[in-house]
Amino acid sequence: MNSDLFLLAIESSCDETSAAVLKNNRVLSNVIATQKVHEQYGGVVPEMASRAHIQNIVPVVDVALQNASVKKEQIGVVAFTQAPGLLGSLLVGVGFAKSFAQALGLPLVAVHHMQAHVLAHFIEDPKPNFPFLCLTVSGGHTQIVLCKSHLDMTVLGETMDDAAGEAFDKTAKMLGLPYPGGPLIDKYAKEGDPLRFSFPISDMANYDFSFSGIKTAILYFLQKEKKQNPDFVEKNLNDICASVQATIIKTLLKKLELAATTLGIKSVGIAGGVSANSGLRKALEELGSKNGWQIFIPKFEYCTDNAAMIGMAGYYKFIAGQTCSLDITPSARASW
Ligand code: KG4
Ligand code: ZN
Repeated sequence: MNSDLFLLAIESSCDETSAAVLKNNRVLSNVIATQKVHEQYGGVVPEMASRAHIQNIVPVVDVALQNASVKKEQIGVVAFTQAPGLLGSLLVGVGFAKSFAQALGLPLVAVHHMQAHVLAHFIEDPKPNFPFLCLTVSGGHTQIVLCKSHLDMTVLGETMDDAAGEAFDKTAKMLGLPYPGGPLIDKYAKEGDPLRFSFPISDMANYDFSFSGIKTAILYFLQKEKKQNPDFVEKNLNDICASVQATIIKTLLKKLELAATTLGIKSVGIAGGVSANSGLRKALEELGSKNGWQIFIPKFEYCTDNAAMIGMAGYYKFIAGQTCSLDITPSARASW
């Protein structure tokens, strides 16, 4: 029997600098530095994100090693997010991972960020059985993924334009809320009436999504209402948030239900930043009991961007012999 493997994982694809230490497939530490600098700009400013990653990466890795009580000399493999993401942000994590691996003579594993979001389900118990169907909803992606094993994943459907998280964030921006707006819409929606306003639910072919239509519908709706009543947003914030959130959730779950029913899959989950949404979690649980599904929702810190999930993907790729060379470069877009 081989001895235990200690793995250092790095995530820097967007605006979270994160490092995790794993012992085999068990997470010992997961440190996340969220960049606050973007709040005032209504979205992530790529140059600022890259600069903040440079400032954060060394201290974040140090704390991850300390929290895990693991010395860097004990690390046996380095995993890192190679794609997709903001190129300048990815470069910092990729550069750090390569330097760390080269200095200590360690193997490297390149991880696809979206595959890692799905593998967040395997950090804690209960873990899904295969086949497992995962709706991965983040700021940049919306995908329905069929998983036959930890590494055998097929994207069945995805957004043709904006991601669900982007629909949340852009709506929040139109409502004058800071970035990232998803958690704030979630908060205000709790006090609002989801049936007060209605917005269109897109109907794309098969398991695909579209969120650009709802964004435009909200823009025109707000313009029209504000013309008649300049205080419209302030007076109706809770109901607007609840109605928009309900529309996004219906759009997402309609396709997830179609896929699960068509394929006869009973092990169903959500992953990615938007899976932190309380309305989506509740609606999924209700849909699950209606259909007799076993539902999987990762713990909050494993829903949004984190290095623990990169470590999980790194672990399964490493034991499958999928290491990469030091020549590897980051990629803003990449299929898997
Ligand atoms: O997975 P993630 O952390 O980063 C990407 O890979 O994009 O997802 C970030 C997205 C943002 O759009 C953010 O607004 C959204 O997740 N988000 C939420 C909630 N928490 C985070 N959206 C709705 N409700 C939430 N509670
Ligand atoms: Zn993500």
